[in-house]
Amino acid sequence: GKDKELIRDSWESLGKNKVPHGIVMFTRLFELDPGLLNLFRYKANCGSTQDCLSSPEFLEHVTKVMLVIDAAVSHLDDLHSLEDFLLNLGRKHQAVGVKTQSFAVVGESLLYMLQCSLGPAYTAPLRQAWLNMYSIVVAAMSSGWAK
Ligand code: HEM
Repeated sequence: GKDKELIRDSWESLGKNKVPHGIVMFTRLFELDPGLLNLFRYKANCGSTQDCLSSPEFLEHVTKVMLVIDAAVSHLDDLHSLEDFLLNLGRKHQAVGVKTQSFAVVGESLLYMLQCSLGPAYTAPLRQAWLNMYSIVVAAMSSGWAK
């Protein structure tokens, strides 16, 4: 339907430049919740956003996030086929100390990145379409949290 069209059309160009767009998203994430920097320690130091952005492991994570979004966009017609993958992904995030509540802030950062990149093409229906898809991804990831 219309939602899928809005998502696919907007991702068409964004998906070709994953890292720069992912950096906009994560820079926003750390502005909204600087505490999340602590979860990206790796071997390198993620004491600040700049430290994080100069760590290859962190940039790899940015790419990984964008690839999951890319997978969701390509599976809009059968998102449930990603459920097992996303449940396991949720499990890994619980293990590294992420709280499910943080996914709301990630969602806000995703919308911020879309707004920055799409300009006037960022409309209320487009925002809602992305939120709907993101909510499905987050629900599937959150099912991986052990109680
Ligand atoms: C792995 C942190 C959100 C996708 C990881 C790792 C950390 C981490 C520390 C393990 C090290 C690594 O692979 O780089 C976080 C934090 C997040 C967040 C703090 C936000 C609060 C997300 C989101 C997605 C995602 C929203 C995708 C929608 C991945 C993937 C991996 C990963 C694909 C690799 C899992 C594997 O090794 O199989 N994340 N992450 N992350 N993350 Fe995230």
